[in-house]
Amino acid sequence: MSSILHKYFSEMDIDVSWYKKCSHEKITTSNSEFDDLRKIVNKCEQCDLYKTRNKTVFGSGPLDSKIMIIGEAPGKDEDEQGEPFIGRAGKLLDAFLQSINLGREKVFITNTVKCRPPDNRNPSLDELNKCSSFLTSQINAIKPKVLILLGKVAANNILENESPMSDLRQKSFFIDKYDAPAIVFYHPAYILRSPLKKSEVWEDLKYLNNILKEHVC
Ligand code: URA
Repeated sequence: MSSILHKYFSEMDIDVSWYKKCSHEKITTSNSEFDDLRKIVNKCEQCDLYKTRNKTVFGSGPLDSKIMIIGEAPGKDEDEQGEPFIGRAGKLLDAFLQSINLGREKVFITNTVKCRPPDNRNPSLDELNKCSSFLTSQINAIKPKVLILLGKVAANNILENESPMSDLRQKSFFIDKYDAPAIVFYHPAYILRSPLKKSEVWEDLKYLNNILKEHVC
């Protein structure tokens, strides 16, 4: 279904979520095209983050993943090993996913920027903008059925808004250009710092699980 038709039905309050479910085979980019993109990212010097990085963190997971998880930026462990979400936040993310029967082998995980910002500061607007074409190419290649955005930085960047987390949680944002809904979830690093939020995380996981059941076969 075209995104215009989707919008039209949505505006009329007609639920068309059933349509996307298993509606078409995914036509994915070839592995070699994806590897070419990885090589370009590895050599990228578009912003200053290349000066302090050890390794770029392109992302990992199967090219035909139906679910794509997008975090903020690599941290220390990720920068050392070149893999996303392998530190403490990654372990907590794995636990969240496992609680709804999702293993890493089923998802593609990446970040809004592919290099670690010094001292784990938030990526600047300039860094986000310069890296955004890589993320767009990854989403277009993988064609996920659902995007999961971790934390406010990733959510504001991809949804092109400045909304606080309180306005973003437990909502589905249909992104026309990716023909897929995006769900915003607390960043696991935030939960490590704010353990009292764990009960909200459970509510969010239930919401996410329902969306995945609706859109992912
Ligand atoms: N935090 C992120 O946003 N991404 C990672 O890869 C690791 C920690």
